[in-house]
Amino acid sequence: MTPETPIRWTRKDLLGIAELSPAEIELILDTAESFSEIGERAIKKVPTLRGKTVLNLFFEASTRTRSSFEIAEKRLSADNINFSTSGSALEKGETLVDTALNLQAMAPDLVVIRHAHAGVPHMLARRIKAGVINAGDGAHEHPTQALLDAFTIRRHKGKLAGLKVAILGDIEHSRVVRSNIHLLNKMGAQVTIGGPRTLMPVEMESMGVEVAYSLEDAIRDADVIMMLRVQLERQGRMAFPSVKEYFQLFGLTTARLAAARDDVIIMHPGPMNRGTEIASEVADGPYSVILEQVTHGVSVRMAVLYLLSGVHEETV
Ligand code: CP
Repeated sequence: MTPETPIRWTRKDLLGIAELSPAEIELILDTAESFSEIGERAIKKVPTLRGKTVLNLFFEASTRTRSSFEIAEKRLSADNINFSTSGSALEKGETLVDTALNLQAMAPDLVVIRHAHAGVPHMLARRIKAGVINAGDGAHEHPTQALLDAFTIRRHKGKLAGLKVAILGDIEHSRVVRSNIHLLNKMGAQVTIGGPRTLMPVEMESMGVEVAYSLEDAIRDADVIMMLRVQLERQGRMAFPSVKEYFQLFGLTTARLAAARDDVIIMHPGPMNRGTEIASEVADGPYSVILEQVTHGVSVRMAVLYLLSGVHEETV
């Protein structure tokens, strides 16, 4: 294959960024670009996935990812069914595998799944015929978040290669940081991660990133700053003395932004802890692209649903 040969999407599932090639990442981002104008139309609907059925299985809380997938499915005219643990037979003791096999028996085309345990989407993908999309598995991966982050960066900077991207916060519990490191490394960006030593897992050193233990060192000359939520609910013990101290050391304020480039953009996957990892003046300030990330999430998920549905193969 020459570099000019257009790539075809051949994967059944989207389980992580780790297994994607740079060409596959670019294909998703370019497809998302072509879908983005649908969100600006008066009638935000196209018939692309008419007759396809998508199951949304969310075993963990979600605001952005869940509603973004649902909107993407509706914009593409897919039929969608939303399933959550509450009110399902899982509450009566049915195993996840039995639930999956029963859902498969209803012949969905795609399954979107979020689960607290790493690897559950992979297990599901091995057992069912439908394409599986990982909407976040434990602290492992959140591929569509990294793709929408890349889409947002590309919109502002016109490229990914060569950019300095600083990712700061609760690295230990973040699936967003792992998917972003895979994606940004593959696309030629330079990644620095920062946070307290108590929230910095040792494997980060081997992921091809620089590690900084102060906010100033991490964001120096950064083109992009991505703040991560401190996931207090996943911590067995507090990894820092108090929220006040965390904010003093690692909270992003306007004064601290001076160390970054003048045209820096500020990102956050949400939900934000205002006054813990980010000050409101920054979250709502002129450098913030946080709500744009949410808007672009719909286009990126439309692209992923479209590519995995196989309709591009059916119509050529
Ligand atoms: N970014 C993200 O995954 O947000 P939700 O948990 O609200 O889906």
